[in-house]
Amino acid sequence: MLFNLFDCKVIIQEDFHNIIIINISLYLNRMKKIVFIVGGAGYIGSHMAKHADLAGYDIVVLDNLSTGHEDAVKYGKFEFCDIKNKESLDVLFKKYQPDAVMHFSAYSIVGESVVDPYKYYENNVSGTLNLLKIMLDNQCNKIIFSSTAAVFGNPEYTPIDEEHIKKPINPYGRSKLMAEQILEDFDKAYDLKYLVFRYFNAAGHDASGELSERHDPETHLLPLIMQAARGDRENISIFGTDYNTEDGTCIRDYIHVDDLCAAHLNGLNMLFNPENKISSNDFNLGNGSGFSVKEVISKVKILTSKDFVVLEKDRRSGDPAVLIASNIKASKTLNFTPDKSKIEDIIKSLID
Ligand code: UFG
Repeated sequence: MLFNLFDCKVIIQEDFHNIIIINISLYLNRMKKIVFIVGGAGYIGSHMAKHADLAGYDIVVLDNLSTGHEDAVKYGKFEFCDIKNKESLDVLFKKYQPDAVMHFSAYSIVGESVVDPYKYYENNVSGTLNLLKIMLDNQCNKIIFSSTAAVFGNPEYTPIDEEHIKKPINPYGRSKLMAEQILEDFDKAYDLKYLVFRYFNAAGHDASGELSERHDPETHLLPLIMQAARGDRENISIFGTDYNTEDGTCIRDYIHVDDLCAAHLNGLNMLFNPENKISSNDFNLGNGSGFSVKEVISKVKILTSKDFVVLEKDRRSGDPAVLIASNIKASKTLNFTPDKSKIEDIIKSLID
């Protein structure tokens, strides 16, 4: 049980021997809200830790470093933790008593999810379930969950709004949709308050250059094109030139990672605002406009003044032709303003 008493946070827990432990921590000593950034050593999580730290939150990054990098944790404390391990999660929740959680810890490569679905369901579904259970056991009931455009599958219309039917076409998308459904059920049953943010194509770097996108192996279009422009790879392949789009290549909605983080901060403030009765919600986060693979390649060539070899290959499995977000709901409710997400600005941030 948890309640506030004269600015003191009082937690009463009853164990199976009926021993009551009273843990009083002076709330005055922790005016700053403590936020766990789970998966905070990865690309979006490490940017988020910086934004949240600079905004005055007390940050603890939890990561198992399976895809993240410890040297990317430049803000907040770091704790090694795997969400598949409930016991180690529980120890950290008892140690820090976080007020909210941001959950970025997921495997997210579509093709890999098709060949190794167990890995995706184990981490993205079962791991998320562990995290939510430990949150509730420790009286933490606020979470921002990173979801994906992949929950929509092949869109029936674009721009894709939040009401669009969700019919994922690969295990990655299904694992994220399952986690979204668990959140909905947990809100109804246990009053867990959540915001679901569905990212479209996150791209770009922190302006100071201290953080970056480092996947191994890299599969994303923009970092691969930049490698080709720098001469670090011999060529770039276009996966499919026979899609039903103007130039035959896939269209994506690229959103700057800093704009994503700004949306998360607005979301956190919304969850913590004592004036508002908190209600759970979901948002599609994209720029609202799309660029084809060929357009992106040609813009990089112009902005870097570099030429490189472009190969035309077969389609990659699991790629929808067009993914463009409607960000109307996020703009109205979250005050989401993707002002760093012009494709030229994203590419310039990568060049810088
Ligand atoms: N592409 C190429 N060549 C490459 C790499 C990518 O042509 O070398 C194409 C892809 O086929 C796709 C587009 O570039 O059409 C973008 O591909 P990315 O791999 O950069 O990103 P995705 O659109 O596949 O991935 C994003 C998110 C995922 C999400 C997926 C939903 O990063 O989390 O959208 O389809 F699951």
